[in-house]
Formats: sequence, C-alpha cells, structure tokens
Amino acid sequence: MSETLTIALSKGRIYKETMPLLAHAGIIPKDDPETSRKLILDTNHDDVKFVIIRATDVPTYVQYGAADIGVAGKDVLLEHGGEGLYEPVDLEIAKCKLMTAGPVGAAAPEGRLRIATKFVNCARRYFAEQGKQVEVIKLYGSMELAPLVGLADQIIDVVDTGNTLKANGLEPLEHIADISSRLVVNKASMKMKHAKVKELIDHIADAVKSK
Ligand code: ATP
Ligand code: PRP
Repeated sequence: MSETLTIALSKGRIYKETMPLLAHAGIIPKDDPETSRKLILDTNHDDVKFVIIRATDVPTYVQYGAADIGVAGKDVLLEHGGEGLYEPVDLEIAKCKLMTAGPVGAAAPEGRLRIATKFVNCARRYFAEQGKQVEVIKLYGSMELAPLVGLADQIIDVVDTGNTLKANGLEPLEHIADISSRLVVNKASMKMKHAKVKELIDHIADAVKSK
C-alpha cells in the first residue's frame, strides 16, 4: 500500500482559501467540513487525507508528525515557535497584521502596561525587545473586550480592515508583523516521504504564483 499524506487544515477562512490551491494540485475533498462532523476527510486520492482541527493546533499536529503537512497563519507559527517544522511556501492568503491596539486616544498607564492576548509568547518577545516590562494576560478570544472592561490597557491581535477595533472604540497602535498563511511540513515527512511531499509543495507553490 502506498504511504498516506495527511494534511492539517482549520475550518473557516484558511480552509476556504486553501481549497483552490489544493485543487490546482489535483486534490479535492469528498466532504465539506462546514457541513460534515467528520474530523478526517477523504479526498479523491486514496493516499491523501485531511484532518480538520483548530487553527492554533495545526503546528502541533505537524510538529509531532500526526499530519505531514498543514496550513497555518504566521501569527500562529510565531506563537508556536516553529519547532520541528519547515515553512516552504507563503500561500499569500488570510493576510492581516499582528498589532498592538488600545482605546482611542488613551494615555499610557502609570505603572506596568497590561496586555491581553492569545499570543502570549509573541507579546513577551515583542515587549522584551522594546525593553518594556509588561504584564501579559492570556485570553482565548474576543481580546477587544479586555480594555473596555478594565482587564488590560492594550491588546495584541490580528487586524485586517480595522473594523473590529473601530466597533469597540479601539485603535491600532504598533505593528508587530505582517501575517499570511504558510504551508508547513513535518521535518521527518520531508525526508521519509520526500517525493510525494515535494510534488505537493511544487504544485501549491505553482498555484500561488499563478493566482
Ligand atoms: P482558533 O480557532 O484556533 O482560535 P482562529 O479563530 O484565529 O483560531 P481563524 O479565524 O480561522 O482561526 O483564523 C485563521 C488565521 O487567519 C489566523 O491565524 C490569521 O493568520 C488569519 N486571520 C485571522 N483573522 C483574520 C482576518 N480578519 N483577516 C484576515 N486574516 C485573518
Ligand atoms: C479576527 C481577529 C479580529 C478580527 C480582525 O477575528 O481576532 O477580531 O478578525 O479583523 P478586522 O480588522 O477586519 O475587523 P475573527 O477570526 O472572528 O474574524 P472574522 O470576524 O473575519 O471572522
């Protein structure tokens, strides 16, 4: 039996924007994860499967080899650290910016800045580079709420149109990184399944170029 390639994807924007790139590589899923409850999806190739997981879990599945390949936002990869992963292709999808943000016109607080975010490693690294002592408060979502209810002075989150910040009386402050989604590959799979993995990488890179 030929070796299987497992591709880790998250539902939502990454799935939607990755499908045309995979279709260019001739890979079409047999189910739609938005309607199916299945977590492992078959494709038109017997030896290619998708696993459908949370966006933040993609680097972990690929790092440990539970998936050979995955698609993850650069924000998620910066937070994870990238251990055990190659990042061969910038897919140029799900583009946004990782930024600090705070209430419009707010003055800097007297004491230590309190930062609410799900990107705690990025936050610690960023402020350490600035030589600033901050308190980082871990959240799992809806970061925009934290400054409104006095939980934090500022947040770190991804910003695209800026509409979510605006709707909550916040403004973007400092730019930390430009974000897009990347193809990630398990380092062992790159060696052990080289021909198959390389073929897929090349097809996807080609799809990105021809967009
Ligand atoms: P999780 O479910 O694990 O908490 P999530 O809810 O952030 O993750 P998505 O909203 O699907 O997952 O976002 C996936 C990726 O898309 C993010 O890691 C980021 O790189 C990018 N992204 C997030 N929000 C936006 C946005 N508003 N515009 C463009 N790209 C975005
Ligand atoms: C993300 C992020 C922000 C928002 C930023 O959330 O956590 O809240 O997008 O995008 P904006 O600058 O265009 O408002 P989510 O994944 O919920 O985004 P969505 O509203 O596009 O689904």
